[in-house]
Amino acid sequence: MNAVAQLNSSRFSVSCRGITKEFSTGDTKTLALRGIDMDIAPGELTLLAGPSGCGKTTLISVIAGLLKPTQGDVTVLGSSLIHMRGGALVRFRAQHIGFVFQQYNLLPALTAAENAAVPLLIAGRPRHAAIAAARRQLEILGLEGRTEFRPNQLSGGQQQRVAIARALIHHPSILVCDEPTAALDAVSGSQVMQLLTHVAIEAERVVIIVTHDHRVFQYGHRIIHLADGRIEKDERNEWDASHLSQGNVAPSSSPNSAGCSIRKVD
Ligand SMILES: Nc1ncnc2c1ncn2[C@@H]1O[C@H](COP(=O)(O)OP(=O)(O)OP(=O)(O)O)[C@@H](O)[C@H]1O
Ligand SMILES: [Mg+2]
Repeated sequence: MNAVAQLNSSRFSVSCRGITKEFSTGDTKTLALRGIDMDIAPGELTLLAGPSGCGKTTLISVIAGLLKPTQGDVTVLGSSLIHMRGGALVRFRAQHIGFVFQQYNLLPALTAAENAAVPLLIAGRPRHAAIAAARRQLEILGLEGRTEFRPNQLSGGQQQRVAIARALIHHPSILVCDEPTAALDAVSGSQVMQLLTHVAIEAERVVIIVTHDHRVFQYGHRIIHLADGRIEKDERNEWDASHLSQGNVAPSSSPNSAGCSIRKVD
């Protein structure tokens, strides 16, 4: 890597270059991503928006190393995921990436605390310490009293918060959330967004959130709009969202009600 490329990549924790992804199902081919170039910096909340089927989940799955792109390269924390093989990729993901799945993907036989503890157990943390840390994280997310419940004993919103706890528990540098507020009421959704904003700003991490939820837009420092597998618009909120990480309730459901203005990123 030359000096200029090194300087550029050090400013960003995630870089995508020429990403395409084609799925084949029988005779049907779907080009879900059609050439994505983007860089995502730590310390701010990046939202990924766009209509159903436009490629949001596919893109974050590529960024998180869960899916190989058909073409292109994705670099996370300076390492190309494309060239990382099996075990190394699994270890890299376990150490650096937290992922909240759209369908939660909790393990049905495990309790909420055990589910949330999984990344720490994989990392070799003793069970009692991992479970204790998981209980604390679940309490932060308002799930005290539910830590010993199994997923089928929890509401959709409670399961979603267990999935968020599991993604946060190992303090990953890169946190990727697919519709993390979809099943939450306004108050819980606002609390989760304040927590994610705090994680991005205070801990200087990359936080990428896929959302359809217009209530969430006010929290984003940057909003990338996808349409039909391409980036259609890349906007930046001009306001400072740090107040949202300090326990203040979100101003209202309107993206501009916090007095923010949106400008296009050049
Ligand atoms: N495993 C797969 N096999 C075949 N096609 C797929 C697969 N995964 C996604 N697709 C197709 O790729 C396109 C993009 O899907 P993706 O899940 O990324 O959309 P999305 O923007 O996340 O939508 P939503 O908002 O509904 O979750 C869709 O047309 C979908 O049918
Ligand atoms: Mg999706």
